[in-house]
Amino acid sequence: MLLRVHNLTKRFGKEEAVSSVSFDVNQGDYVAIIGPSGSGKTTLLSMLTGMLSPSEGDILYDQIKLSQISKQELAEIRARDLGLVFQFSELVGNLTIKENILLPALFTKKFSSDDYLRKCDYLIDHLKLGDIQNSLPRTLSGGQIQKAAIARSLINDPAILFADEPSGDLDPENSYLVQLLLNEYNKRNHSIILVTHDMKLAFDAQTVYEMKNGRFEQVIKGE
Ligand SMILES: Nc1ncnc2c1ncn2[C@@H]1O[C@H](COP(=O)(O)OP(=O)(O)OP(=O)(O)O)[C@@H](O)[C@H]1O
Ligand SMILES: [Mg+2]
Repeated sequence: MLLRVHNLTKRFGKEEAVSSVSFDVNQGDYVAIIGPSGSGKTTLLSMLTGMLSPSEGDILYDQIKLSQISKQELAEIRARDLGLVFQFSELVGNLTIKENILLPALFTKKFSSDDYLRKCDYLIDHLKLGDIQNSLPRTLSGGQIQKAAIARSLINDPAILFADEPSGDLDPENSYLVQLLLNEYNKRNHSIILVTHDMKLAFDAQTVYEMKNGRFEQVIKGE
């Protein structure tokens, strides 16, 4: 899946949070976005995932303009093709960790039940969530919730994973588990768009953009 972002701008009143951002993401690309607090990173990700409408500019998924599709089509694209990890992820309070991770499977039948259960066990194992898989979110730490949100975002094998500070609440050991998992998905040709203050995660990306005052500047292009 190809994502094309053209002159994307978001204003809140007179404040411009995102200013004329353009970039492309191809299948298998790993893009990191760094930059100071308040520079517009979360606002940008919210527009790319269809949760916030832009003031100006276009977002295209496989040449389809996000602004021209119905809410239903947007929901389908999001459920089937996009994985989302929010800066402050929330889980469903009356479901266990395992049930939360499997929740997206109810909305898209992309894989068989057996496959979903296998994928879920793999993610639980990899992120060391085994001991708490049957616990309810309110009994868990912020880091455990964040890891569960990461597992939930990957259960559908998304074409593009959007992750806003996925290691923000994690200690170095758990950040490393997340780093390994992201790299593994990327090797399997899933695209990743990552917002992070964690330079270890940003270092893995092929392209790093820095955001400052809503503007975008490419700082590294590997190859
Ligand atoms: N819903 C909103 N209404 C008004 N202003 C907003 C809204 N959301 C964000 N902003 C403003 O837009 C600017 C960018 O915010 P954003 O959350 O995108 O920053 P960020 O780069 O993600 O910061 P951080 O690293 O702290 O998460 C800030 O000045 C913020 O106050
Ligand atoms: Mg943010």
